[in-house]
Amino acid sequence: MHIVTGGGTGIGRAIALALHARGEQVLAIGRRRAPLDDLAAASGGGIAVLSCDHSAPADVRKLVEAVDGPVTGLVHCAGGNPAIGRPDPTSLDEEKALLDETIAGNLTSAALTVTALRPLMPTGASIVLYGSIAAEHGVGYYGPAKAAVASYAVGLAAALGPQDIRVNCISPGYIADTEFFGPGLDADRAEQLRRQTAIGRNGTPDDAVALTLFLLSPESRHLTGQNLHLNGGAFTTR
Ligand SMILES: NC(=O)c1ccc[n+]([C@@H]2O[C@H](COP(=O)([O-])OP(=O)(O)OC[C@H]3O[C@@H](n4cnc5c(N)ncnc54)[C@H](OP(=O)(O)O)[C@@H]3O)[C@@H](O)[C@H]2O)c1
Repeated sequence: MHIVTGGGTGIGRAIALALHARGEQVLAIGRRRAPLDDLAAASGGGIAVLSCDHSAPADVRKLVEAVDGPVTGLVHCAGGNPAIGRPDPTSLDEEKALLDETIAGNLTSAALTVTALRPLMPTGASIVLYGSIAAEHGVGYYGPAKAAVASYAVGLAAALGPQDIRVNCISPGYIADTEFFGPGLDADRAEQLRRQTAIGRNGTPDDAVALTLFLLSPESRHLTGQNLHLNGGAFTTR
């Protein structure tokens, strides 16, 4: 089966639906029930859903109990930038709370989920983590948290390679039609980001689906330990 965290909305939802359309058994996870129920309905009940906070060990333990069968693909989309839409911290305590929440939602959630599900992953399985272009630009604590996710993928790939389990990180630039920016990104900012791409368009969840499905498939069998940038040329590695 395939597990898609953050599967109720945005990139994760598109990946869950695409896997389901290919006939895969899919379990999609998020914290809020409403988007998950909506996804289950959109798939005619074919996609199983579960509420779970991936940064909470007790929730992740319940997830493991709910999993039925070997996990051949894990896509960890759960994450985000909790600073968006909030006033800046005004005390050290608030600063630490924001830092802790950002690390927990992105790095801790990935680490707990992978650690818990690893025993259920057979030879040939593939893990895809989601980083961000923000790791290259800073962006408060969100960029550092996503840099840590990409780095985590490197060590994990080395540790799981002998079992022929591959681990890669996709680091998108701006992807429209998600809940990442809450009600939506300001049109001027979206246009500014579009101009930063080489191909003159912002990304869509379907762009992320294509790369994710490739990384889950045996066609990418020699690809592991990589951080793949997905941004229309807004950031290049050379
Ligand atoms: N959209 C972009 O421009 C962009 C750019 C670079 C990177 N990314 C990354 O891409 C990934 C997917 O985001 P998206 O763009 O699809 O935005 P999104 O629509 O906000 O999706 C994130 C999903 O993760 C879930 N989630 C967050 N924290 C969770 C937790 N602790 N436990 C379980 N579920 C959790 C959210 O649902 P609940 O709130 O219901 O839990 C939500 O469904 C994220 O890691 C994001 O940081 C996005």
